[in-house]
Formats: sequence, C-alpha cells, structure tokens
Amino acid sequence: MPDSIAVTADNHAHYLVRPLRRSDRRLIEQALRLLSARTLYARFHTRRTRLSPREIDYLVSTDDRDHVSWLVLDPVQRAHDGPGGLPIALGRYVRDAENPSRAEVALTVCDHHQGRGVSKVLLGALAASARTAGIESFCGSLLAENHAMRSLMQSLGATLRVQDGTVWAEASADPWHLPDNGTAARIRRVAAQVDAALGAQRRSASMARMRS
Ligand SMILES: CC(C)(COP(=O)(O)OP(=O)(O)OC[C@H]1O[C@@H](n2cnc3c(N)ncnc32)[C@H](O)[C@@H]1OP(=O)(O)O)[C@@H](O)C(=O)NCCC(=O)NCCS
Repeated sequence: MPDSIAVTADNHAHYLVRPLRRSDRRLIEQALRLLSARTLYARFHTRRTRLSPREIDYLVSTDDRDHVSWLVLDPVQRAHDGPGGLPIALGRYVRDAENPSRAEVALTVCDHHQGRGVSKVLLGALAASARTAGIESFCGSLLAENHAMRSLMQSLGATLRVQDGTVWAEASADPWHLPDNGTAARIRRVAAQVDAALGAQRRSASMARMRS
C-alpha cells in the first residue's frame, strides 16, 4: 500500500495524498460527522445527517483496482494532530461492471477546505490510479444546483445530461486528454506527481523484495 505522497495544488498549496485503507473506517466516520448537511446532501443526495454503518462499510471497501479512494491530508493540520489527523477530502471511483473502461467518481471536500482547489488534487490522484487500471472515462451524477461541481465538470469538457434535477456528467479520466485550460493543467500536475511517486514506491518495493 503506497505511503503518503506530497503534492502541490493551486496557489502552490501543499497537500499529502494517500489511498484509503479498509482500516481507515474510524477516521472516515469521524470526518463524515464534521460535514455540513449541505455537503452531505450534495455528495450523497440524502437529507439524513448520518450515513448508515452499511453505507460507511461500502465507502471503505476499497480494493486498489475497481474501487479506489484517495484521501487528502493537510500537512499543517497533520503536524498538529499527528498521524491520526482527519482527512480534509475523499475522492473515489468505482468501475462500471458493464463498461470496465468507465468508472463512477464522487468527491467530498470538507466544508472549511472547499473553494481552494482540493477537487483537482483528488482528481489528479484518482486519474493516476485510473491510468494503471485501464479506466478511460470518469462519470458521475450531481444535483443540478451543484454549481461548483458543474463548473468543474464543464472545465473538464464533460458531456452533461440533465434529467429530473440530476446531471449525469462524463469526461475523460486521462488528464492529458482534457481541454487545454488551468483546471485540467492542475489535475495533470497532481497526476504527474502521484504517478512519479507511485513508480518510485513500486521500484523500491521490488528492490527490497530482491534483497530479501
Ligand atoms: C464540489 C466539490 C467537490 C468541489 O471541490 P472544491 O475543492 O471545493 O472545488 P475547487 O476549489 O477545486 O473548485 C472547483 C471548481 O468549482 C468552482 N467553484 C468553487 N466553488 C464554487 C461555488 N461556490 N460556486 C460556483 N463555482 C464554484 C471553481 O471555480 C472551480 O472551477 P474551475 O476549476 O473550473 O475554476 C466540493 O465543493 C464538495 O465536496 N462539495 C460537497 C460534495 C459535492 O458536491 N460533491 C460532488 C458530487 S459527487
């Protein structure tokens, strides 16, 4: 399982990213409790203020290939809170069983960190994993009134289909196939950083195996 990777986002902000592990369940439960009703509704399309244990089980049931999640950590907060510090964002994709080259993406950025470019960090990390897993497009449903997510998907050149208050969006999962604009460039930058770090981690793991 890869270690945390340092990435640089918008405005030269520094973050750490790492894949979610099944053992992160408690961390995720705590982080979800801090989300506002607005954010929970935008992400899970529910007016409930708590997710059920079953829904949380599903969130953490990652497998490194078909269901992949990345956490974003704030290094300043981490230095203060230690390794048990809460993530500031979680992004995941789940491969479409009928079309394995497509995956459904969902992003959650904690309220206090929204509007600071963290979505591009999540998308960059997810794109790096998707590339090695053969996933070519990201899709997802969002509420029609979710202006931030709509604006993000539009910047990525997504096709948008509106139906009954929900928007179905689909865009390339390959950041190098996205439009030539600042949003895509930020995703490409994070994807390249994550790609390079994962490559280095794989090489050092295989050297360690050869030595043992
Ligand atoms: C939607 C969400 C993922 C965006 O993440 P973020 O880190 O806050 O967004 P960013 O700062 O990276 O900005 C993303 C885009 O939204 C736009 N945006 C941000 N806040 C906005 C707002 N209040 N209104 C309109 N657009 C907004 C930005 O201009 C940016 O567009 P650009 O990259 O084309 O310039 C985040 O706000 C969130 O988690 N919301 C609640 C859950 C949710 O809606 N999840 C998505 C459904 S799966």
